[in-house]
Amino acid sequence: MKPMEILLFGGSGQIGRHLIRKLTKNNFKVTVVTRNYHQKAIVLKTQANPGYIDIVEANIFDEEKLEFLTNNKDICINLIGILNEDKKNSFKNIHTNFPFMLSKICQKNKVKKFIHISALGIDKAIESKYAKSKLEGEKLIFKNFSEALILRPSLVYSVDDNFTTKFMTLLNLFPIFPLYYSGNTKFAPIHVSDLCSVIYGVLENDLKSEIIECVGPEILSFKMILEKLLNSIDKKRLLVPTPLFLAKITASVLEFFMKNPLLTNDQLKLLKYDNIPSGNLRNNFDLNLKSNSYFDEEIIKYSFMWKETGQFSKKNYSKND
Ligand SMILES: NC(=O)c1ccc[n+]([C@@H]2O[C@H](COP(=O)([O-])OP(=O)(O)OC[C@H]3O[C@@H](n4cnc5c(N)ncnc54)[C@H](OP(=O)(O)O)[C@@H]3O)[C@@H](O)[C@H]2O)c1
Repeated sequence: MKPMEILLFGGSGQIGRHLIRKLTKNNFKVTVVTRNYHQKAIVLKTQANPGYIDIVEANIFDEEKLEFLTNNKDICINLIGILNEDKKNSFKNIHTNFPFMLSKICQKNKVKKFIHISALGIDKAIESKYAKSKLEGEKLIFKNFSEALILRPSLVYSVDDNFTTKFMTLLNLFPIFPLYYSGNTKFAPIHVSDLCSVIYGVLENDLKSEIIECVGPEILSFKMILEKLLNSIDKKRLLVPTPLFLAKITASVLEFFMKNPLLTNDQLKLLKYDNIPSGNLRNNFDLNLKSNSYFDEEIIKYSFMWKETGQFSKKNYSKND
C-alpha cells in the first residue's frame, strides 16, 4: 500500500524527532521542514529508514514554498513553537501568524488532515503572551480548517527535553533552589513517546474538529517534580519558597543577560496556573489513548548522567537490605 504523505513542521524538536520515528515505523512517509538543513539534517536523517523521510530547508513564512510543499500531502502536522521571544521570533508570528497561514494553504490545497500542537492551560493563563498567542492561533486555525485537530499537551518530558535535563543540571550545581508559587503549581507530565502514540492514535481514528488535552497518568506539583528529580540524581537540596517580586527581578535580570533565559517574566505568569486536565474538553484517556509512563520510572533511565558515578552508581545499602 502506498504510504500516506505527511508534511511535518518542527520535526527537529523533542516531540518531532520521536514522532518521525513513530510515524515512519508505521508506514507514513514524512517530509520534514527545517529552517537550517546543515544544522538539523544530520539528526533528522537518522530518525527514519531511507525512503521514508525527506528533509526540506525553508523559511516558514515563504508562502510560495508552503503552497508547493502542501501539494499532494495527505496530512500536515505543526509542532513549531518557542518558549522565549527574541528580535527575530515573536510569539505572535510563531504561534498565531504561522498556523494561520499554514492552515489556510492546507485547506486550499485539500490536505486531508491538519494537526496542530498547542499547549495545555492556555485558556486560563490570559496574562501570558505565550498563552495568548497560542490561543489566538487555535481560533484562526479553526476558521481556516474547520476539521483541524488541536492537541494541548501538559509538560512533555524525555531525555531529549529542555525541562527535566535542564533542572537536573541546575539542581546538581546549586545547593539552594527557588520554589515559585511555593511549588504548588500542578502538572500532568506526559512522556514524549506516550504523546507520540497519542498523536498516532489521533491520526488513525477518524477524529476531527476537536481540541484534545494530552496528559500523563499522574498529577504532580512543581515541588514534587523537583523532589523526584533530586531523588533520582541522589542529591539533597534546599527548596526555598521565593516571593514573587524576587522571582520577577531574577527573571528580568536573566532576560537582560541571556539569549535563552532560564526563566522569563512570561513563564512566571504561566507558572501561576495549574497545567492539568480542564474537565471541559476530552483528553487522551477519554479517547482510550492511554499514556502509561510514570515520571519516576522514566527519569531514572537517564538521570544517571547527573549522578556522581554516572551509569554505574549504586546506592549504599545497609547490610540488612
Ligand atoms: N515540550 C513541552 O513540554 C511542550 C508542552 C506543551 C506544548 N508544547 C508544544 O509542542 C510543540 C513542540 O514542542 P517541542 O518540545 O518539540 O519543542 P522544541 O524541542 O523546542 O522544538 C521546536 C521546533 O520548532 C522549530 N522552530 C522554532 N522556531 C522556529 C522558527 N522561527 N522557524 C522555523 N521553525 C522554528 C524548531 O525547528 P528548527 O530549529 O529545526 O528550524 C524545532 O524543531 C511546540 O509548539 C510547543 O509549544 C511543548
